[in-house]
Amino acid sequence: MSLPYDRVYNFSAGPGVIPVPVLEEARDNMLNWKGSGVGVMEMSHRGKHYEKIAAAADADCREFLGVPDNYKVLYLQGGASLQFTMLAMNFLNGGSADYLRTGTWGEKAVSAGKLHGTVHLAHDAKGSNYDVAGYDLATYSDEAKFVHFTMNETIQGVDFLGDPPADGRDWICDMSSCIGSRPFDVSRYAMIYAGAQKNMGPSGVALVLLREDLLERIPEGLPPMLDYKVMVENEWMYNTPNTWGAYVMSLVFRHWIDFGGLEAVGRYNDEKAGHIYSAIDESGGFFKVHAQPQNRSRMNISFTLPDEDLTTKFLAESKAAGFHELKGHRSVGGCRASIYNAFPAEGCVALGGFMREFASANG
Ligand SMILES: Cc1ncc(COP(=O)(O)O)c(C=O)c1O
Repeated sequence: MSLPYDRVYNFSAGPGVIPVPVLEEARDNMLNWKGSGVGVMEMSHRGKHYEKIAAAADADCREFLGVPDNYKVLYLQGGASLQFTMLAMNFLNGGSADYLRTGTWGEKAVSAGKLHGTVHLAHDAKGSNYDVAGYDLATYSDEAKFVHFTMNETIQGVDFLGDPPADGRDWICDMSSCIGSRPFDVSRYAMIYAGAQKNMGPSGVALVLLREDLLERIPEGLPPMLDYKVMVENEWMYNTPNTWGAYVMSLVFRHWIDFGGLEAVGRYNDEKAGHIYSAIDESGGFFKVHAQPQNRSRMNISFTLPDEDLTTKFLAESKAAGFHELKGHRSVGGCRASIYNAFPAEGCVALGGFMREFASANG
């Protein structure tokens, strides 16, 4: 196999792969942005050049993800993890909210939420080691200010695979590991947030899509850096933002718009995941998927082998064959293939072939 720049098949769960044409464009503009004589990382975030970059970041995000006009687009710092706290400070604020605990990341959001109010676990999949998710599995409470959930659990490879119902609830969703991977309807959510480093760009930035009317609910006196109202009023530039991160994200959005938009990306991801899931399903139980069949993630395929020795052998041989970062998280064990938008389809075909051969040689 030969990938540009001697790159390997990188199945990293995050930071993950970024499209090569984006990296090339970013590389060129790192030194001199569009002939301005100044590199993107070296220009003032309040100057006329970055003003254009920020405007493009807003417009490209809106176009690619289909963000309606009554939503704010924010590029915030502190990654998705800070959002666990920030959303709780702004919108829970001593009240009660429903949380769906469907995996490791949902659990972290729950822990942060508990510091700022009452968390009602409307659904808790911990007992099954987080192999299932579904809106219909939850028991919602009447007094909840919002419902929080993690669309795609990156470690367990468990995905809701669809928008929440339009039932008048204020759904707040962590989409870190699946945003932009398929069509979705922003208007079903009060707020969506996602760390950039899987489908959108460099780490350290959280993209936040916030329905405007939520701003009215924010209490006075929050620390300014943790107050969405302050971030909106200052167009995410209350302080110096991650200028490079937002720039690269804008290029990534444009790349996928040119690819055909969310519909095309969704079809591509289904096809890619299919190459690996079919190798698993045809292995006669040699490989097993962690997620229940109806929740199989198209982004993170968590799977196990019959025992530790075979897992170690598989990881060693697959790495030698050019497939990197396949080790699973210790809470699930086994292996995980993260195949974000920019992961090439050929890599999925190749891994599927490798898995078939491995299963027949060792099964
Ligand atoms: C679903 C999900 N939520 C939140 C996070 C945390 O993101 P960050 O490291 O940007 O804080 C991750 C990171 O892997 C994740 O996968």
